[in-house]
Amino acid sequence: MKRLNIALAGVALAIPAGAAQAAELNLICSADVVICERLVQEFGKDHGDIQVNMVRLSSGEAYAKIRAEARNPQTDLWWAGTGDPHLQAAADGLTAEYKSPMLDQLRDWAVKQAEVSGYHTVGVYSGALGWGYNKDIFEQKGIKPPECWKDLLDPSLKGEIEIADPNSSGTAYTTLATLVQIMGEDEAFAYLKKLNENIVQYTKSGSAPVKAAARGETGLGIVFQHDAVAQAVEGFPIVVGSPCEGTGYEIGSMSIVEGAQNMDEAKVFYDWVLTPEVQSIMPEAGSFQIPSNKNAAPPKEAPDLTKIKLIDYDFATYGSSDKRKELLARWDAEIGGHASE
Ligand code: G6P
Repeated sequence: MKRLNIALAGVALAIPAGAAQAAELNLICSADVVICERLVQEFGKDHGDIQVNMVRLSSGEAYAKIRAEARNPQTDLWWAGTGDPHLQAAADGLTAEYKSPMLDQLRDWAVKQAEVSGYHTVGVYSGALGWGYNKDIFEQKGIKPPECWKDLLDPSLKGEIEIADPNSSGTAYTTLATLVQIMGEDEAFAYLKKLNENIVQYTKSGSAPVKAAARGETGLGIVFQHDAVAQAVEGFPIVVGSPCEGTGYEIGSMSIVEGAQNMDEAKVFYDWVLTPEVQSIMPEAGSFQIPSNKNAAPPKEAPDLTKIKLIDYDFATYGSSDKRKELLARWDAEIGGHASE
């Protein structure tokens, strides 16, 4: 046995030092880890010559990493997560202009996202904000299910609500920006201060709160409605809520990093992931957003955006570098880190 090992080591050493390196792609994925892993697996079937190194980061964390690497980019492509930090990255010159040949197959909102950013980002999916609550917990504790944002302030929900931190999470930033657009900035911060009394934990990732509600660790998670649907589809006692005052939505986006070391490979993935075949895989991985390619049918489980009271979310303003920085600084000063338990 020992001899065999030595012999194998000899074979390994015999490989010429100058052998061609496999093509690589360094990918940040900001959606659910299950779909992130599935995409890498499927890409490997179609483009086995490109080795994908994927890391899952929440949208705000991804932006911060790309910003920190600006002088020496280690990341080539950033797929999905909410659009606001993608727009901020575009405005900061951190991402590259690219007009994919797939653009003419995309829905209007996805193309608009590209236009607004000077073609530095593009829409890949869309979904509305809301919440998911655990109906067993609500029944046991006799809590009345909320219908409106204002209902989340009810004292019966003390210690029952989770939401992510808007610095790391695009979901939570979308919530912050939505409330500011519905109520005005000062009112929204007054609301968030009161809501804080009912919050048990600020998580890093946007969908974690409804996963905790599904497991019965908390009563309600403020999340994208499709993330609540995903838990219900898994068989957990989660009911999806859509706020009566209206709600915001995301245009999940994708951007190529400016100065990417593997620019050609990034474009191969970019065009591939926008095809209807690839977008249609998402529901199989428990992702129920509306896909951006017109030829990819929305999953039957996806919340119907035409039946949800959506606000006219101002992506240009709330994705701008100044506005995002300003709102996050105010959140840190007035709300951040003060979870009640
Ligand atoms: C989930 C949702 C996506 C969303 C993402 C944002 O994965 O399914 O639609 O884009 O959260 O993640 P984040 O952790 O940044 O809130």
